[in-house]
Amino acid sequence: LAKQDLKGKKVLVSAGPTVEAIDPVRYLTNHSSGKMGYAIAEVAQERGAQVTLVSGPTKLSPPQGVALIPVTTALQMQAELENHYEAADYVIMAAAVADYRPVRAAQQKIKKGTDKINLPLVRNPDILFELGQKKRQQVLVGFAAETQQLLVNAQEKLFKKKLDLLVANDVARQDIGFGSNENEVYFLSPTSSPLHLAQTSKQQVAEKLFDLLLAMTKRK
Ligand code: C5P
Repeated sequence: LAKQDLKGKKVLVSAGPTVEAIDPVRYLTNHSSGKMGYAIAEVAQERGAQVTLVSGPTKLSPPQGVALIPVTTALQMQAELENHYEAADYVIMAAAVADYRPVRAAQQKIKKGTDKINLPLVRNPDILFELGQKKRQQVLVGFAAETQQLLVNAQEKLFKKKLDLLVANDVARQDIGFGSNENEVYFLSPTSSPLHLAQTSKQQVAEKLFDLLLAMTKRK
């Protein structure tokens, strides 16, 4: 049995992509596999937490003992996270939320015709930013997938979104990140310098994440 150092804690995790309909048969999404978020949910559950996992569509089965809330769109994900936010002690936002959605999903399948068509998109809410605005007891964690200037861009997100911890990874690398079982990350917090974790399993990234969060909250 894992150490029960999250016993009595409520952990809210988001995972996977969001999927935004274009018409009844087509959609916009991204390459998120959900593996990082599911590993976080699993590790938190093993360490004694009561875990709620709000997940976009993935091929993964939910970890034992975790309450899964399946969602499709960013707006649905936001609604479910807001429902569970107030009670949560730790909120880990590992989902890859689509930044834009079609202004409206067509009721009927769009027929092919002219060479060029326009698909107007509208910004989705930044769910994590908005959760940060109403943060109380919650310890708030975000992820940043960057292809350039990893630490600079990550640092900016940490402050803008009022996070307690940000996990940054370099998605330009083929061997880690999206779809992979492994990851190599930096942990950034407002109070200490970036901590590098060499390439390891997503389970081990999750373990380290909770080690750091527990150490931080003890200091508080
Ligand atoms: O700004 P960027 O998308 O890089 O930030 C990544 C972090 O913000 C992730 O934790 C992601 O889950 C969250 N996010 C969000 N809502 C969005 C976009 C990103 O909650 N619309």
